[in-house]
Amino acid sequence: MTKLLGVIGDPIAHSLSPLIHNGWYRDLGIDATYEAMQIPKGDLPDALQTLSKTGALGLNVTLPHKLSARDVATTTSETVDKIGAANTLTAQSDGTWHADNTDIPGFTNALRELLDEKNLSGLRVVLLGAGGSARAVLYALSLEGAEVLCLNRTESKAQLLVQDLGNVKCRAGDLNQYADEQANADIVINTTSSGYEGSALATGIGNGRLFYDISYGRAATPQLSAASESGWRTADGLSMLIAQAAESFRIWFGVMPDREKAIDRCRNAIKATV
Ligand code: ATR
Repeated sequence: MTKLLGVIGDPIAHSLSPLIHNGWYRDLGIDATYEAMQIPKGDLPDALQTLSKTGALGLNVTLPHKLSARDVATTTSETVDKIGAANTLTAQSDGTWHADNTDIPGFTNALRELLDEKNLSGLRVVLLGAGGSARAVLYALSLEGAEVLCLNRTESKAQLLVQDLGNVKCRAGDLNQYADEQANADIVINTTSSGYEGSALATGIGNGRLFYDISYGRAATPQLSAASESGWRTADGLSMLIAQAAESFRIWFGVMPDREKAIDRCRNAIKATV
């Protein structure tokens, strides 16, 4: 019987996850289908009960359900416990769900490839933003022993984040410090949602350093164009999206899928819609 998997969120219509996962099922001859499921905030427990009865094998969970996904799961990974959010649910034989967070290994794998460097210890990172995405990025970098300066428009949120998940080398500050602090960074990672408003931070001179924006498509364009013009090597968040998807796929099917193929498919799909 065809296995059912999918992504639950709201909104979800523009998710690239069905394209990514269904492409891998075709590549590997897996009899499964991956669907986008629009479920309003608060309705996750009911939706999971129904999906459990219909025999769904695994689910990704995105906004606004990442926190409640942890609560509805019967068992949780160590990362989920630490970060307080889950993005991957796997059906158990007794009808319950196990929660994982693949954003963390996904981000780390994507960054290692971008830098062509396995060892991220001591990497000096300026991290912009202190929301849900920054939480995953900071925790991933902290585990690797990177030195992170987390700067946010609301400084108190950056401080809380660093206290909660940072290592001893992590610090917090105000976004206004960026102009001075970027000079001391090996890389800059932008997790703020300002790109969705069409705006971009002044980036400073890059001298070939990496400016990594974890958004992609239209939202990433203003910031990455500005960074590129100032001499930064730029990367968008598509590699991270695909790396977290690949980690979820590995949990469900036990093999690592071809990430390059998924990147090509997604870039073509984004091109077709811009
Ligand atoms: P996500 O889950 O994508 O991280 P979020 O939790 O809503 O989204 O966080 C958005 C981040 O972008 C926050 O760090 C926010 O700063 P505040 O904490 O001060 O709100 C930041 N952000 C949003 N719009 C911004 C803007 N115009 N300039 C600078 N930072 C902005």
